[in-house]
Amino acid sequence: MERLKIELLGAPILRQRAADVDVVDDEVRDLVRRMFDAMYAANGQGLAAPQVGIPRRIVVLDLPHEDTPSYALVNPRVVERAEERARGEEGCLSIPGVTEIVERPARVVVEAVDADGAPLRIEADGELARCLQHEIDHLDGILYIDHLSPLKRKMLLARYRKQQTRTVDA
Ligand code: NI
Repeated sequence: MERLKIELLGAPILRQRAADVDVVDDEVRDLVRRMFDAMYAANGQGLAAPQVGIPRRIVVLDLPHEDTPSYALVNPRVVERAEERARGEEGCLSIPGVTEIVERPARVVVEAVDADGAPLRIEADGELARCLQHEIDHLDGILYIDHLSPLKRKMLLARYRKQQTRTVDA
């Protein structure tokens, strides 16, 4: 089967709100498998369905440097956020080649259902909390660059465009 194509910054679907999944069926499980394939092939640690052109509330993540399992989350929601905030580096498969420091709540609680339709509650801190928030943002059309100051965002986009031009030239 053909590998899912990752949409890049500028694709309208990255700015749309994704729809809830009503039933976790074989079609959803197949999509989850293909999303994991696409994520690993791109050396990513998280991927949301809108990033592969599918406006549904599904994310996958697997943090290679953390002692956490891989997750497939359907209809995930952040139900609690710590007031304490933490800064950490983020990148995005839809904005390849650049990263920036982003500030977010340091800890979150996420509820979702897994690929078998079973309820799941994750209490996360550190990288997992950061990655969960980044991926769930994608389901609401929010990108990590939206959390940057206008100046930081402008500078990051300039670096991104410069690098995209080089890629095209090569
Ligand atoms: Ni992303």
